[in-house]
Amino acid sequence: MLNLKGKTILVTGASSGIGACLAKYCDELGANVILSARSNEKLISVFSEMSSRSKIILADLTNETELQQLISELPQIDGFVHCAGKIQPFPIKFIKQKHIDDLFSINLNSAILLSSGILKSKKLNQGASVVFISSISAEFPYMGGSLYSASKSALESFARSFALENAPMKIRANIVSPALVKTEMFEQTKSAYDEADFEKFISQYPLGVGEPQDVANTIAFLLSDLSKWITGTTIRMDGGLLLNSKRD
Ligand SMILES: NC(=O)c1ccc[n+]([C@@H]2O[C@H](COP(=O)([O-])OP(=O)(O)OC[C@H]3O[C@@H](n4cnc5c(N)ncnc54)[C@H](OP(=O)(O)O)[C@@H]3O)[C@@H](O)[C@H]2O)c1
Repeated sequence: MLNLKGKTILVTGASSGIGACLAKYCDELGANVILSARSNEKLISVFSEMSSRSKIILADLTNETELQQLISELPQIDGFVHCAGKIQPFPIKFIKQKHIDDLFSINLNSAILLSSGILKSKKLNQGASVVFISSISAEFPYMGGSLYSASKSALESFARSFALENAPMKIRANIVSPALVKTEMFEQTKSAYDEADFEKFISQYPLGVGEPQDVANTIAFLLSDLSKWITGTTIRMDGGLLLNSKRD
């Protein structure tokens, strides 16, 4: 049976969307959860629905000092899930260095520096499990999403290297790659579309768009010992979108 009893798990991006849902679910499954993000107010609201085993550590992961402070405050952990990320649609011809730095600093660089810092501090226990959240747009691009897709492709490559380097310690790393999930990011995506076009796009999901709990369920499995022989894998979660021949 799925449970995370006795495991200590760090969840970044825990103030909202998938990360908030996952933090609460890991808590329900018996884990000691460390929630991290920038917004204290939002984290406290998530934390208020959880048990006293949980703990908040505030950090802007694009700020190296704050990221190192987060690592130094961590206890020994049995896994972490990097949910922090953002979307920023931008046509290629208008991209400037600052746009690349801005998006990659949270979607990719923070994942690398967090992983590196945690490994160096030896705070990741033997048998730990790490999950990175990519996006189906890493494989299947969308208009204006070049930077987002590129950052997620690079994240997936990094995650596979992480899995290889740490397998001798029985530390696993996997990737969950969702299509549209109903969070704040979903609303941002929606606002970038004409309403009728967005409705048409949504209608192409045979199982409808995802809920944060759908993604949290898969991540919890990957964090648990039930998946102890799975590493370096990408689990695509798209409600059947890519089966649909009507996809433009
Ligand atoms: N929703 C979707 O349709 C979808 C689809 C595919 C993949 N994903 C991926 O799933 C992950 C979670 O997305 P979501 O939909 O749950 O998004 P969300 O609701 O917008 O949450 C994003 C989280 O990232 C945190 N964050 C952003 N910048 C940060 C920074 N500089 N330092 C620390 N934390 C930061 C935010 O917290 P603060 O603002 O409090 O810092 C927030 O908790 C992302 O990696 C996203 O790319 C989402």
